[in-house]
Amino acid sequence: MNSDNDLQIAGDILEVPHLLQPPREHPATVAEFVGMARSIAADRTQWEHLVRYDATARWYHRLRTGPGYEVWLLSWVPGQGSGPHDHGRSSGVLTVLEGTLTERTERATRALDAGAQRVFAPGYVHEVVNDALEPAVSLHVYYPGLTEMPMHTSPHCEARTEPRAVTA
Ligand SMILES: [Fe+2]
Repeated sequence: MNSDNDLQIAGDILEVPHLLQPPREHPATVAEFVGMARSIAADRTQWEHLVRYDATARWYHRLRTGPGYEVWLLSWVPGQGSGPHDHGRSSGVLTVLEGTLTERTERATRALDAGAQRVFAPGYVHEVVNDALEPAVSLHVYYPGLTEMPMHTSPHCEARTEPRAVTA
């Protein structure tokens, strides 16, 4: 017990659930979106059986939707990449589920191994590519749901005008 503080909780706080905040059904904060992505990543039964690999086009699947957000599952065979893009007015959380992806931005190039997460705000420009020899799988949460993905000529340049209807 902390002798500098005479506040004490009498009894078991779990016995008075009306004093606790109810758990939220859907994430609403950055930490909660990151936490949701981590819990999906940790539970392979939620996504492993859905993953497909397509050498002709990047494969993606909408895994879940909620109020104002979408969760997408993507696969990347070696050599596949997104091209430099932003995410319109969406914020996002990128989580690598399997393999290694390389993210290039104006400032850095980073290898993202399984478990790595990147959180980004609207306007964030990056390029994601599978530079490795093994396929990769990633999970993408967008808030609000992705409605456009303006392509850039490089991670350093302004957006071109044509949006592309794929996710990354
Ligand atoms: Fe992206």
